[in-house]
Amino acid sequence: MNRNRWYEAGLEHVWLPYTQMKTARPPLAVARTTGCRIVLADGGELIDGIASWWTACHGYNHPHIRQAVERQLAEMPHVMFGGLVHEQALTLARRLAALLPGDLDRVFFSESGSVAVEIAMKMAQQYWINRGEPRKTKFVAFKGGYHGDTTGAMAVSDPDAGMHDVFRGSLPKHVVVELPADAASGDALELVLARHAESIAALIVEPLVQGAGGMRFHDAATLQRLRGVADRCGALLIFDEIFTGFGRTGTIFACEQAGIAPDIITLSKALSGGTLPLAATVGRKNVFEAFWSDDPRKALMHGPTYMGNALACAAANASLDLFEREPRLEQVAAISEQMTRELAACRDLPGVKDVRVKGAIGVVEMERIAELHALRARFVQEGVFIRPFGNVIYLTPSFTIAPDELTRLTRAIVKVVQL
Ligand SMILES: Cc1ncc(COP(=O)(O)O)c(C=O)c1O
Repeated sequence: MNRNRWYEAGLEHVWLPYTQMKTARPPLAVARTTGCRIVLADGGELIDGIASWWTACHGYNHPHIRQAVERQLAEMPHVMFGGLVHEQALTLARRLAALLPGDLDRVFFSESGSVAVEIAMKMAQQYWINRGEPRKTKFVAFKGGYHGDTTGAMAVSDPDAGMHDVFRGSLPKHVVVELPADAASGDALELVLARHAESIAALIVEPLVQGAGGMRFHDAATLQRLRGVADRCGALLIFDEIFTGFGRTGTIFACEQAGIAPDIITLSKALSGGTLPLAATVGRKNVFEAFWSDDPRKALMHGPTYMGNALACAAANASLDLFEREPRLEQVAAISEQMTRELAACRDLPGVKDVRVKGAIGVVEMERIAELHALRARFVQEGVFIRPFGNVIYLTPSFTIAPDELTRLTRAIVKVVQL
């Protein structure tokens, strides 16, 4: 296994994500992907339960996306977005504006989720600067939240569950509180916010599902409460839909289930159908209007080099075609029903704290997981790629997964949890 020359020669030089390099088990060498399968360099095959950190919503190598990227590659892989625009980016911006709720209308492209969050934060802060309220620089964020690994994004992630506790002393300080799960805690949050109103720029939350902070769910009423509190306290509301966007919770965007729109939304991951890095920060009309001025200092001074990359935008346009042409939301509903039925077997097993499903997200929360590496290896032995973290075993498969492939994933979880 893993006997390729490139593997042996290169592994000494690569630094892997979220990994203690000294103690980690060697990563699996992948030769290729197809549908919902990962084909290993040693010829083995794993059914993928994670869809590459929730990106590959149509399965891997979908021919429609591949052909769109190939066509674009022949024409123009990339051109700088400063002073130049192109069809793929403008078409994508128009389509996203049409798809998003309310007047979320102005799309700022970037290349990763964390950067999209940084841009959202900068947008919110400058919105207030441009409106003559420069002291409104702080954010209200929520326990269990995760918004990325760059400095600004780390500072609004849960200091404990957000993986960055070693930086606790050095990150900018914001207000991190519990999500208001009922009316009383909504009132309590409003009191806190009212006290700090002159310094709060925005609230930031992952709507319906807090992903990397523990796959925790909350309901639509919580989001409506946040919308009300933000409005009454004069703060913007940012929804980070980098995980939840594009069908994952059962609707194209999670905020649709609450019937509200945020002032700024961040998108990435499944935006490009899992093929190329792409992200977007989208502002409502009133946000954009605060930057619309004869004063150059009121412009949003941001511009990642690969912003609006033509290949990535072509992939995203093709991915949106697939959401229009293929029954993705019906597939999510079927996955949801199947996971609910099949993961129920875990409910009464020793060590299991909770089993929950929302859209195409299935979670088995354990009291604790002592040997994370060993557990991950057990799943590989079962022929599946499932990557538990913290005390959570979860499935976020591609929406195109076949029922028998999904059963192999849920059976593997039931079997491994039983041991
Ligand atoms: C909700 C949310 N926001 C932001 C990010 C950061 O995205 P990226 O890893 O592309 O920087 C993630 C990644 O998991 C996420 O789930």
